[in-house]
Amino acid sequence: MGVKGMLFVIVALVLVEVEVEVVAIDDIDSTQIALHGCQRNCGDVQIPYPFGIGKTENGTTCFLDKPFNLTCNSSSSSLTSGNVQVININISQGQADMLIFVSKYCYNSSYGNNAVSSQPSGLISSSSFTISSKDNKFISVGCDTYGYLNSFYNNNAGYSTGCLTRCYGNTKEIKDGDCSGIGCCEVDIPPKMRSVSTQAGTFFNFQDSLVFNNCSYSFVVKNGNYTFKKAHLENLPYEMLPVVFNWSVGNETCKKSLNRGTNACKGNSTCVDAESGHGYRCQCKQGFEGNPYHPHGCTDTDECKTGQHSCVSDHNCHNTNGSYICFCPKGQSGNGTKEDGCLKKNFLLRIVIGASAGFITILVGTCLLYLTYQKRKLIKLKEKFFEQNGGLILLQQGEESSHTKIFTADKLKKATNNYDENLIIGRGGYGTVFKGVLENKTIVAIKKSKFSKIF
Ligand SMILES: *[C@@H]1O[C@H](CO)[C@@H](O)[C@H](O)[C@H]1NC(C)=O
Ligand SMILES: *[C@@H]1O[C@H](CO)[C@@H](O)[C@H](O)[C@H]1NC(C)=O
Ligand SMILES: *[C@@H]1O[C@H](CO)[C@@H](O)[C@H](O)[C@H]1NC(C)=O
Ligand SMILES: *[C@@H]1O[C@H](CO)[C@@H](O)[C@H](O)[C@H]1NC(C)=O
Ligand SMILES: *[C@@H]1O[C@H](CO)[C@@H](O)[C@H](O)[C@H]1NC(C)=O
Ligand SMILES: *[C@@H]1O[C@H](CO)[C@@H](O)[C@H](O)[C@H]1NC(C)=O
Ligand SMILES: *[C@@H]1O[C@H](CO)[C@@H](O)[C@H](O)[C@H]1NC(C)=O
Ligand SMILES: *[C@@H]1O[C@H](CO)[C@@H](O)[C@H](O)[C@H]1NC(C)=O
Ligand SMILES: *[C@@H]1O[C@H](CO)[C@@H](O)[C@H](O)[C@H]1NC(C)=O
Ligand SMILES: *[C@@H]1O[C@H](CO)[C@@H](O)[C@H](O)[C@H]1NC(C)=O
Ligand SMILES: *[C@@H]1O[C@H](CO)[C@@H](O)[C@H](O)[C@H]1NC(C)=O
Ligand SMILES: *[C@@H]1O[C@H](CO)[C@@H](O)[C@H](O)[C@H]1NC(C)=O
Repeated sequence: MGVKGMLFVIVALVLVEVEVEVVAIDDIDSTQIALHGCQRNCGDVQIPYPFGIGKTENGTTCFLDKPFNLTCNSSSSSLTSGNVQVININISQGQADMLIFVSKYCYNSSYGNNAVSSQPSGLISSSSFTISSKDNKFISVGCDTYGYLNSFYNNNAGYSTGCLTRCYGNTKEIKDGDCSGIGCCEVDIPPKMRSVSTQAGTFFNFQDSLVFNNCSYSFVVKNGNYTFKKAHLENLPYEMLPVVFNWSVGNETCKKSLNRGTNACKGNSTCVDAESGHGYRCQCKQGFEGNPYHPHGCTDTDECKTGQHSCVSDHNCHNTNGSYICFCPKGQSGNGTKEDGCLKKNFLLRIVIGASAGFITILVGTCLLYLTYQKRKLIKLKEKFFEQNGGLILLQQGEESSHTKIFTADKLKKATNNYDENLIIGRGGYGTVFKGVLENKTIVAIKKSKFSKIF
């Protein structure tokens, strides 16, 4: 029973060692897909739905809504929306990079010394596009210059911001790469800037700086895509600069659009209200990738094949719907993650098995010793009884005459049919007398000594 119990404990320990870990993973960039039968790209730029160009053969539009209606100029391979050029669309981030015209106001002799007029340069009029405040700056360049960034929507609700720069003819402090307010000024973009426009102007028609600066420039630009140079005061060499927009679909919140059944988020995706307060965005659920606006929805990411897992190796990774599992090979312990790894059989487990094996050996050995001791004790006792019942005398006589015969206990047992009660022919103070039949059919009387009855 002791041995069985020990084996059971060992089996239980082995079972406890088998462990599997489920690990959740970060969001993944989507593969970008257009609707079936629609143009997938214009030049190098991919066009994922909800953006699109024109219609399919059966007449369904390739874009979700008016703001996402694009045009491709095949001769110049440029993708445009009104007067802005789209250079990258990111579905998972809900952003788009666009080239926007720089606003410019130059010296006009017909205005004299008090010019206040300027030509605005429209950015993008749709409320679906918000300038990302995190990714852009508003910049004005000039020496008698101001710039406006305007956001007017919903019947002129909105606000303006901007900056000014005046040099008063002093050019010494103007340095390349320094946009700190002399010849160049910059400001952060406020949040929720949509339906935006920029505007450049001059206070005194460049009266102090006409020799080296006769134009004002104002623009929003992606962080890192503009570095001020002194030479730009004479002529800014860019007509358009890149701006990062956050875009959203619909004109209602997630809740309202879901209630109305107009929500554009497809399978395995979730709806997120836009920060701009206009519409919402769709995002693939964690562990899924693809285009959440596309009718096919998002599909499971195979983290194991694309290396987006935290398992020790691709072989220790098992892909599941929306996630993956790390595991260790048979006979190893650990959870299979990079943190924990896999160990060739736990050290502790080895100690337990070793100790168990030792204990079993000692147990079995003790049992064997005890059994041997008992057997020897029995033999000695038998010898004692043999002597007590005159066995030695009989043995001596047997050697001298052929009349005496010594029978083994086995033979006597057989002769009396295992001391059958029916064969008892008498009882005495020292034992019982049985009728016995020997192998050679001789009938004999056998006395069983009382001392030997113990056995
Ligand atoms: C038109 O084609 C698209 C894609 O092939 C399909 O999803 C849509 O149901 C079709 N619409 C009609 C009216 O046939
Ligand atoms: C999409 O844009 C094109 C070109 O600007 C225009 O001709 C077309 O009418 C627009 N479609 C819709 C549905 O607004
Ligand atoms: C297409 O691009 C070419 C080259 O930039 C330009 O000349 C042409 O006017 C453009 N066409 C349209 C329809 O915008
Ligand atoms: C979209 O943004 C993600 C995260 O910044 C980036 O990994 C991915 O390459 C971007 N996709 C495109 C088409 O720019
Ligand atoms: C100067 O302003 C006048 C009046 O607005 C305009 O007609 C003219 O084209 C401008 N000249 C230049 C060089 O911009
Ligand atoms: C635009 O997107 C960026 C990156 O996703 C985010 O940090 C920012 O808060 C968003 N909204 C605005 C108004 O910039
Ligand atoms: C501005 O100055 C530059 C260089 O001095 C000159 O070429 C250009 O014609 C001037 N522009 C105007 C509108 O005066
Ligand atoms: C913007 O800056 C990045 C990084 O410096 C550069 O690769 C890219 O060409 C720039 N884009 C434009 C339109 O200037
Ligand atoms: C929202 O958009 C839908 C469809 O484009 C339009 O019918 C509706 O009037 C819009 N609602 C608001 C409040 O702009
Ligand atoms: C969600 O993704 C799973 C796995 O890729 C796919 O089998 C299932 O059809 C998707 N569900 C929907 C509603 O698209
Ligand atoms: C995968 O998970 C998604 C979301 O949890 C569920 O909608 C979809 O039915 C699952 N697909 C399979 C094949 O289990
Ligand atoms: C795997 O094991 C390590 C160390 O025991 C632990 O820190 C980690 O959280 C485990 N991983 C998971 C996904 O439970």
